[in-house]
Amino acid sequence: MTDEPINIVRFEPDDLDQMMAIEVRAFTAPWSRQSYEDLVTLDSIHIWVAKSGEEVVGYMLYQFWGDELELHVIAAKPERQRSGIGTLLMEHMLTQAGLIGIRRIYLLVRQTNDAALNLYKKYGFKVVGMRHKYYRDNGENALLMCMDRDG
Ligand SMILES: CC(C)(COP(=O)(O)OP(=O)(O)OC[C@H]1O[C@@H](n2cnc3c(N)ncnc32)[C@H](O)[C@@H]1OP(=O)(O)O)[C@@H](O)C(=O)NCCC(=O)NCCS
Repeated sequence: MTDEPINIVRFEPDDLDQMMAIEVRAFTAPWSRQSYEDLVTLDSIHIWVAKSGEEVVGYMLYQFWGDELELHVIAAKPERQRSGIGTLLMEHMLTQAGLIGIRRIYLLVRQTNDAALNLYKKYGFKVVGMRHKYYRDNGENALLMCMDRDG
């Protein structure tokens, strides 16, 4: 662990090893390395990495089409959770959303993921729907959340 400041930077392929080390610990049903390798080839996919020096301490992946954005992944390194990394990533996404003219942001979240739900609610996301038994690993429901930006 380092005390260097955290910067949010665009994903580089060299970040993937450290991201996957976080992915398998932060998620109960982690995405595979191949999934990330496939996703980065899509123009609509954007991945940002939170770095403290060379240490990857978090990341997020979103996709946008026109003026709608969907946040697919946000994660902080487990031993550094609850220290503001998720907040930095959310702030960065909202800044980017402003720059590219996004009007509406969607996301799906596990119904029992209190940390993520609190984070999203803090930024004004509202529950607008439910996907019954959406997650195949444990049959958990997904909540569909949405936030309209003012412009
Ligand atoms: C969700 C997640 C990204 C939050 O990142 P984080 O760096 O820990 O978040 P922050 O320290 O910036 O906290 C911001 C807010 O999130 C909420 N929050 C974060 N961790 C929480 C927890 N353990 N319990 C309840 N609320 C929590 C709080 O509202 C917090 O604000 P507060 O500290 O003023 O109360 C992190 O918990 C994580 O990586 N979880 C595993 C991956 C995941 O489930 N991602 C979401 C689905 S893709």
